[in-house]
Amino acid sequence: MQTALTKLLNIDFPIIQAPIGSATTPELAASVSNAGGLGMLALSWTDIATTREKIRETKRLTNKPFGVNLILEWEQSERVEICIQEQVPVVSFAWGNSLPFLQALKSKGIKVCQTVSTSEEALFFENLGLDFLVAQGWEAGGHVLGKVASSVLVPSIADKIKIPFASAGGFTEGRGLLAALSLGASGIWIGTRFLMAKKANASSVYQELIAKANENDTVYAERLFNIGWDNAPHRVIRNSTVINWENSGKPSIGQRPNEHEIIAQKQSGETIKRYADDIPTKTTTGNLEALALYAGQSVGLIGQTIKTAKEIITEIIEEANLQLDKLHSLRAK
Ligand SMILES: Cc1cc2nc3c(=O)[nH]c(=O)nc-3n(C[C@H](O)[C@H](O)[C@H](O)COP(=O)(O)O)c2cc1C
Repeated sequence: MQTALTKLLNIDFPIIQAPIGSATTPELAASVSNAGGLGMLALSWTDIATTREKIRETKRLTNKPFGVNLILEWEQSERVEICIQEQVPVVSFAWGNSLPFLQALKSKGIKVCQTVSTSEEALFFENLGLDFLVAQGWEAGGHVLGKVASSVLVPSIADKIKIPFASAGGFTEGRGLLAALSLGASGIWIGTRFLMAKKANASSVYQELIAKANENDTVYAERLFNIGWDNAPHRVIRNSTVINWENSGKPSIGQRPNEHEIIAQKQSGETIKRYADDIPTKTTTGNLEALALYAGQSVGLIGQTIKTAKEIITEIIEEANLQLDKLHSLRAK
């Protein structure tokens, strides 16, 4: 299945595993790339030595293209330099302006991408010289840039720009892939579904809650899980922390129930407070259900089974082909 994006990135299928914070691992990214998609590492907060190690580990596990995602709310110069030294095939930026890094990356043949949430932003970044974009709709899990749903955002962007873009937010299966392509995107950027992949570093508590959730079980909040990253709206599963906050009349920071309570711990011994932006990974201990369970409205479309990246990608492509045949039969004569 070739699109402008698969050709640009030299991949077999127009499926990109979104950076999903600490749930991304070299094993996950490499297994997605080995299955013909594009795997991504999320290294925004990773220390410099580990950044290089994770990139090298991914390169050991795959000889296919993969990417690194960096959020520009934090200083990223050193990590960008490592991406250049390690010749990472794709670097993706979100929440800021990639201009300061653009020429250095592009001159080494690295493909550069930026996440956007409006058609104006898309046009702006196309004019700067980005290779491709990600259009993130309001349905998306994790930190959510804008307020427009993918069904309107994708065609609005397609009408304005010429460079390829992937759509993020709500696209998780074959039907979604076809819908995104019909709306004008050249691929899909899937986050929440890959939390349910075998190699994802997400705790089983988190995965079970994703499996149980339906499309109405997530909440978009402006400033809720704000400790660690303030002023960045996000979408999470409605868990006990969210329910208590809602039942208390959605008070603002400082007035929320059990503010500053320590509820979990990382493997390093670092404690995690209620309202912190940390997700529960395989090694987090404590009250995992009450942590930030980032997930998109697509939770309602994701099954209960933990699958390999290859199984997820194969399923999406097979379903898209099946769906395409059905649509062909609808063609007016
Ligand atoms: C757990 C989680 C962590 C995320 N971390 C990042 C990140 O580090 N960088 C980034 O650009 N986007 C991040 N996102 C957003 C995704 O890139 C993507 O836009 C979103 O998952 C797409 O919507 P979907 O979850 O419905 O597939 C994260 C999303 C989730 C669910």
